[in-house]
Amino acid sequence: MKILFQFTGSIAAFKACQLVSSLVKADYSVQTVATKSAFEFVGRATLEGLTNRAVASEVYEPGHPMDHISLAREADLILLCPATANSINKLAAGIADDLIGTLFLANNFKKPYWVVPAMNTQMYEHPATQESLKKLSHWGARIFDTQDGRLACGEVGSGKMVEPDEVFKEIEKFKGTR
Ligand SMILES: Cc1cc2nc3c(=O)[nH]c(=O)nc-3n(C[C@H](O)[C@H](O)[C@H](O)COP(=O)(O)O)c2cc1C
Repeated sequence: MKILFQFTGSIAAFKACQLVSSLVKADYSVQTVATKSAFEFVGRATLEGLTNRAVASEVYEPGHPMDHISLAREADLILLCPATANSINKLAAGIADDLIGTLFLANNFKKPYWVVPAMNTQMYEHPATQESLKKLSHWGARIFDTQDGRLACGEVGSGKMVEPDEVFKEIEKFKGTR
């Protein structure tokens, strides 16, 4: 099963790396995508080393003119993990100014699109983010809850990314239905 694993710029990137590692060990084919901000949290070498594949990050990548469409077409499951407030709000507005935005618009939800939010409590509870999550869900995306807990910013509340194992189990369940 092919997973398009999209990273955005969240401190929870290390948890998403654990999930990528578990998926590769379980023989999933994982293609990573990263925003510019995601590379502030996880290195290209880490993503490429974990998956043994080049990470896609540019719409205008020399030699890969159709990545902004074909990466979604080739995948069986699309993950946005960790999903930042910024990317969630951009997707809900249909903004396609990066690879993740163009891939989102090039997908019609016939294949699953899962969003795993990770952010500060205020960002998560902000009406802009909550409205965007509702919109994405209404369009057909699956939105994972966050867990309550102590966040990197020191606050205690919602917005903390679920544990990688929980997402892994859901992926295994999905695989079982195919
Ligand atoms: C140390 C640090 C941690 C951050 N963690 C998060 C986070 O967990 N979730 C989030 O939504 N934004 C977080 N941000 C802010 C995003 O990186 C910022 O909004 C960025 O523009 C997101 O870009 P992207 O959605 O294109 O990846 C963090 C910023 C810093 C400096």
